Amino acid sequence: MKASETKATLSFSNGGQNVELPIYKGTMGPDVIDIRKLYAQTGMFTYDPGFMSTASCESAITYIDGDKGELLYRGYPIEQLATNCDFLETCHLLLYGDLPNAEQKTTFTKLVTNHTMVNEQMQFFLRGFRRDAHPMAIMTGLVGAMSAFYHDSTDITNPKHREIAAIRLIAKMPTLVAMAYKYTVGQPYMYPKNDLSYAGNFLHMMFATPCEEYKVSPVLERALDRIFILHADHEQNASTSTVRLCGSSGTNPFAAIAAGVACLWGPAHGGANEAALNMLYDIQKAGGVEKIGEFIKQVKDKNSSVKLMGFGHRVYKNYDPRAKLMQETCREVLGELGLENDPLFKLAMALEKIALEDEYFVSRKLYPNVDFYSGIVQRAIGIPVPLFTAIFALARTVGWIAQLNEMIGDPDYKIGRPRQLFEGSSKRDVKPIAQR
Ligand code: ACO
Repeated sequence: MKASETKATLSFSNGGQNVELPIYKGTMGPDVIDIRKLYAQTGMFTYDPGFMSTASCESAITYIDGDKGELLYRGYPIEQLATNCDFLETCHLLLYGDLPNAEQKTTFTKLVTNHTMVNEQMQFFLRGFRRDAHPMAIMTGLVGAMSAFYHDSTDITNPKHREIAAIRLIAKMPTLVAMAYKYTVGQPYMYPKNDLSYAGNFLHMMFATPCEEYKVSPVLERALDRIFILHADHEQNASTSTVRLCGSSGTNPFAAIAAGVACLWGPAHGGANEAALNMLYDIQKAGGVEKIGEFIKQVKDKNSSVKLMGFGHRVYKNYDPRAKLMQETCREVLGELGLENDPLFKLAMALEKIALEDEYFVSRKLYPNVDFYSGIVQRAIGIPVPLFTAIFALARTVGWIAQLNEMIGDPDYKIGRPRQLFEGSSKRDVKPIAQR
């Protein structure tokens, strides 16, 4: 952390003593005012629910410039990574700080590939779920349960354990997601195939059956790999902050990542891709492009609580760079599958165009986010809608674990413990039940 020569001075209108606060500069992005000693100096907390102006940690992993619409993993623009690298190279970058050379790539790929199977006992655990359970309910359970299966990598204070846990999580998430899918459709689980790529293996475990040969389509494999890259990390979002907060208690990595999965499930976060596609279906059912005007009217009506799902972002006040790449992939996949005239894609494009010209969206700087198009791609690949968020969780696992390990590796880290502004009753006495 580099201290700035400028200092902030906090003054009080009641004549209380001024407090000088240090300011730190990052490599890029806004400076931060250090308020760690504020309570000791003033007896006051700061108040920032929703973390609108609060940096919760120092990090060297991902950088977003929301105004420019820029996303960098370890300094590399997402566009270059999505075009020139595959997901496992991206995982290496996020975990270890740099892209692998050819030899490092081979070693890392081998390491991940050798951990793709899950303990055979996990399928019996999975069997306890209802067949119609939501995949995210299953994933929350399965990921948490990994701590019961891999005892030799649960000591978060041991760097070796942290690394093995990271590799296991990255390697086994596709297997678990595919198992959750196969379970809900009543098909046999397909074991991982180690001669396939990370994305190719996932397609195999999802769509192959023991009855016939399954050939992985290179276009779909590349599209899925890109979805994984685009979702791999996104600095201190809700689920990543959940993982950090959960892990700050010293809990094991599998439990912390399960907390991230649970957080991601919500429709304001990872659940948005499912919600965005369902929204497109609803508009389509109501009459398609003709009904966009009516739908937008509802979205703008403050009393309706209808949102344009896949639009808006806490940080991006410009086009989400991932949405552009996803739109490109969407065209490629639909072309490959002969679905160029896919009505949902057309509807999404028309909706985007109208929203981007509408004063409501323009004035609030609401642009499409990554989820606006990712659902259309996944649906075209044949992935069922309820599985979308599980795929997001699969891809984000590397970001979660890289951020968790970054935090735990810092000797100065502390358990996360926010404070509050108490608005409840002051102290009072319990009355006997007859007098209440
Ligand atoms: N549709 C309609 N209006 C919206 C939308 C939207 N999708 N998003 C924000 N707004 C409006 C809000 O109503 C608010 O209007 P107001 O100023 O008149 O009250 C204004 O824009 C600011 O929005 P906030 O909700 O205050 O912004 P916040 O940063 O808290 O929320 C969020 C960001 C949760 C992503 C929000 O934009 C949203 O709910 N979008 C839809 C869900 C979605 O796509 N989520 C995916 C996020 S990306 C990801 O997780 C991968």
